[in-house]
Amino acid sequence: MRPSRRALIAAAPALALAACGHRDVAQPLPPARPLKATARFPVGTSLMTGELQEPQFVGLVRSNFSQITPEWEMKMERILGADGSLHFEAADQIAGFCRDNGLRLHGTTLVWYSQDPPAFEALKDNRAAFEAKLREYIGAVMGRYKGLARGWDVVNEAVAENGDGYRGGVWAAGLGDDYARLAFEMAREADPGAVLFLNDYNLEQMPAKLNSFQRLAERLLKAGAPLTGLGTQSHLDISLAKGEAGVAIKALARFGLPIHVSELDISTVGGDFSLGGDASRLEAQARIAGEIAEAFAVLPAHQRYAFTVWGVRDKDSWLRGGKSGHPDDQPLLFDDDGRPKPALSAIEAAFARAK
Ligand code: XIL
Repeated sequence: MRPSRRALIAAAPALALAACGHRDVAQPLPPARPLKATARFPVGTSLMTGELQEPQFVGLVRSNFSQITPEWEMKMERILGADGSLHFEAADQIAGFCRDNGLRLHGTTLVWYSQDPPAFEALKDNRAAFEAKLREYIGAVMGRYKGLARGWDVVNEAVAENGDGYRGGVWAAGLGDDYARLAFEMAREADPGAVLFLNDYNLEQMPAKLNSFQRLAERLLKAGAPLTGLGTQSHLDISLAKGEAGVAIKALARFGLPIHVSELDISTVGGDFSLGGDASRLEAQARIAGEIAEAFAVLPAHQRYAFTVWGVRDKDSWLRGGKSGHPDDQPLLFDDDGRPKPALSAIEAAFARAK
C-alpha cells in the first residue's frame, strides 16, 4: 500500500534529512513499486549463497527481481579443483533457489582471461588434451543447469584493458587466438537452447574498447561462431558524463542480438569528479541509472535479454571490499538497510516510460 499524502507530509523533516545524506536517520521512504512489476523484460541481480540466509535480502530479491546471476560461485575458480574435480555445491544451491522461486538463471562465466586454473595450466602445451578438457568442463557445467539457465557468459572480458587489442590468458595459450570461437561452439553443443554471450566492461566509458568489442563480435560472427548475445557489464561511476550511459547499448543494438546489461553498479566514490555530499552523489547516480535504463528499455523486445544489477543493497556490493574497494561506496539500488534509493526510482520511471 502506498502511504497517503498526509503521511508523507508528516514525514517531511525526516525525508529532508535523508536527502541531505544523513544515512543513519530512519528514512520513511514510500515503498518502491517492485522493479520487476514495472519491467517488460527480466530484471536481474547477482547473489552469493551466504546472502540466501538473510530474510531481508531474500525478500528484496523475491519481490524485485526475476533473474539471478551467481556473483562468483558458478565461476571456474570456484567449481574446478586443482586436480580437475568439479564442485557444484554452492552453484546447485543458487540453482535450487531459482527453481524454488520461479527465477531465471544466467550463468557466468565459462572462459575468462583472469581465471587460469591449474587444471588447464598443466595442459597448455598439449592442445588436443586442453581442448578436450575445456569441452568436458563446458559440457558438465552447462549440461547441469540446462533448461534453467537461459543464457551464459561464454567469453568474458576478451578485450584488453584499454581497448587496444585482445587478451586470452591461458585460453589463448592453449588453443591459440581462435579460442573464443571454439568456446562458443562448445557452449552450443552443451546447450543448444541457451543464449551465448560475449561480455565486457568499460564499454560505456571507453570508445576504443567499445570499438574493439564490436570488431571481435563481427569477427566471431563472420567465422560462424554461435555468438547469440552481447553483454555490457556496465560497472559505472558518477563521473560519467551526460549521455554516455546509453552509448554502448545504442552501438551494440545494430547487431540485432539480445543485449544484457549484465553487472550494473554505479560507484559513488570512483572516478575523477568533485561532487558535494551524499545527496548530490545519489542524484548523479540516479541520473546515470535512468539513462542506461532508458536506453535498454527502448530496445526492440527481442533484444531485451535482461537488465541486471550487480547486487541488491549497497553493503552487498563487491565495491565495498577487496583491495580497491571503498567502505563508503553506495553503488546499488537499495541502501544498507534495504531501503529504495533515488536510482531505483529513476530506473522504474524509465522502464514505465518505455512501455
Ligand atoms: C566479481 C565479484 O563481484 C566478486 O565477488 C568476485 O570476487 C570477483 O568477481 N567483472 C566480472 C564479474 O565479470 O565476474 C566480477 O565479479 C566483476 C567484474
